[in-house]
Amino acid sequence: MTNWKRYTITAALPYANGSKHIGHLAGAYLPADTYVRYLRAQKRDVVFVCGSDEHGTAITIQAMQENTTPRAIINKYHVLIKNSFEKLGISFDIYHRTSEPLHHETAQEFFLDFYNKGLFKEVTSEQYFDEEKKVFLADRYIVGTCPNCGHDNAFGDQCEKCGKALSPNELINPRSTLSGAAPVLRPTKHWYLPLNEYEPWLKQWLIRDHAKDWKQNAYGQSKSWIDAGLQPRAMTRDGEWGVKVPLPDAEGKVLYVWFDAPIGYISATKQWAKENNTRWELYWKDSDTRLVHFVGKDNIVFHCIIFPVMLHMHGDYIVPDNVPANEFLNLEGDKMSTSRKWSVEMHEYLETFPDKVDELRYVLTSIAPETKDSEFLWKDYQTRVNSELVAIFGNLVNRVLVLTDKYFEGKVPKAGECSDLKTYVTGQREKISDALEHFKFRDALSEMMNIARHGNKLLTEKEPWKTFKDNPEATGVVLYDCLQIITNLAILCEPFLPFTSQKLFAMLNVDERNFSWKDAGRQDLMKVGHQLGKASLLYQKIEYEAMDKEIEKLQKIKDQNSKIKEEKAMETTAEAKPEITFDDFSKIDIRVGTIVAAEKVEKADKLLKLTVDLGFETRTVVSGIAEFFKPEDIIGTQVSVVANLAPRKLRGIESKGMILMSEDKEGKLHFVSPKDLTDNGSTIK
Ligand code: MF3
Ligand code: ZN
Repeated sequence: MTNWKRYTITAALPYANGSKHIGHLAGAYLPADTYVRYLRAQKRDVVFVCGSDEHGTAITIQAMQENTTPRAIINKYHVLIKNSFEKLGISFDIYHRTSEPLHHETAQEFFLDFYNKGLFKEVTSEQYFDEEKKVFLADRYIVGTCPNCGHDNAFGDQCEKCGKALSPNELINPRSTLSGAAPVLRPTKHWYLPLNEYEPWLKQWLIRDHAKDWKQNAYGQSKSWIDAGLQPRAMTRDGEWGVKVPLPDAEGKVLYVWFDAPIGYISATKQWAKENNTRWELYWKDSDTRLVHFVGKDNIVFHCIIFPVMLHMHGDYIVPDNVPANEFLNLEGDKMSTSRKWSVEMHEYLETFPDKVDELRYVLTSIAPETKDSEFLWKDYQTRVNSELVAIFGNLVNRVLVLTDKYFEGKVPKAGECSDLKTYVTGQREKISDALEHFKFRDALSEMMNIARHGNKLLTEKEPWKTFKDNPEATGVVLYDCLQIITNLAILCEPFLPFTSQKLFAMLNVDERNFSWKDAGRQDLMKVGHQLGKASLLYQKIEYEAMDKEIEKLQKIKDQNSKIKEEKAMETTAEAKPEITFDDFSKIDIRVGTIVAAEKVEKADKLLKLTVDLGFETRTVVSGIAEFFKPEDIIGTQVSVVANLAPRKLRGIESKGMILMSEDKEGKLHFVSPKDLTDNGSTIK
């Protein structure tokens, strides 16, 4: 184990532009809280910081679209998210905001430090500007026709239809998504962080020092970024909303949101230190402090490359010792998404199940996406609660307390001569500690539950209710051991199930402050003769009706979403493409061909590999029509083929040409075939 003097634990600052769902919770906040509670149980010196990330283009644009202000949006969601975290028992020491003046000062200080040391590269480049809305447009907010596939709603950074990565100036007929107007190019100056210059340092720090102790996702993603070669990255943006660039010639420019947001961890610590009469520098500038960032996988590069480089550039800061990143949590077979409403939002869960917080914490930790994406299913949630929390943990506690009440008037009975309990529980405590030290929360939780299983086994084997008549002492000995077990559980479950722990301590009628982590394993936690409190059920079973309701809700969303998709598809067909010249058209060589062979492409549900006789030659064409046609049904069909399309590889098969299809309102495909049989190779014009 480690000998860190203190800990600075951060959880990614949520964007305050909407509510957050249980995938976010499982990804960063819950594991961070579990880890912090474990550290506190050991009386280690720790600060746990988080807060709202309130800047960024997304919030500005959203405000424009909703006819409101960024301020109104963030004020609303800051409170909603903060309250949800509180109710979920996420025990931040401070939940700060990046709109606070203290944060603006801190972020500007970083910028000026780099500026004064001459570390930035100043670059002027041409960027698209929306003259109607008077704003520079981020790539995402420019759409146009894809130069690759002709899709007329491709984004400035990528075409969602063919997947090609684009830059906005490649788009044909670009338009602003804000005004619909054609944007114009304007020169603008920005300050770039020369990440490339820090490659040697990054390689040392990350590849040499952390190849072993970081999780594969964080290490792997970062390494492949470094291997691909780092580019200078702009740390400023044109706009009004954000931290102002603190230079005289920088009117209308703000810091890039990913520059200021992570500095939010530092400003949050400053605020907390002020309120608690301590020095923030201890938590950021002392090499005995362990800095750990909990994040989701989409945040990896910012926390493993950009922010560490910034901390290193500044000079007197520590860099993260670990970044335990999680993968994503899916919901009932689909990616979780607040905007598509395919999610369980934290505040919604709390409204429906206000007294089932530990239940959610339990399930989310059991299925945590630690090494790969995982899935939240309502039925699985129910099973885990009913057959694990209720049947194992709750049941043990209830049986022990009820039996002690019945046979010993709720007083701790006399202990036996010897018991191997101490070795067992101490062993379990060490297993849990070890797993938590390595951010293996699933393993840690299951070792905790094993203690409850052990207690149940003891009861089942010894059957203390049978011995009482002839040998009450034997009954007492078993219950004494079981009481020690549940007291140990009250300590060891706290990082995972804080509300359970509290209730359990109350039922045991002891003050939890009397115990710390290292007390777990002792077999005299409960003194003989101690009067226990009143027993009540720790958990209630979850009924089928409640689950059906949740599943129905999701089904409705699914129906709505597919309707929206259909309507969108119809809209795009109604809209004609921009005009082209005859020359444009005549570049396309379209021919008649006959499908002479067809087979499925392995592991690709949509693709068929076709052999097409074009008269002058026979070709392989891979076509995305497998959902609509069986291979054997289309052999012999005459079709139209774009014959001079550049070849592409699909699933390792070279496809030369494209079969023309018409797509109807339902998205079904039909061949575009000559009305009468003609010669293969005939031109279509
Ligand atoms: N707001 C970002 C997100 O939700 C996370 C910011 S983390 C910080 O993806 F480090 F920048 F604060
Ligand atoms: Zn495209």
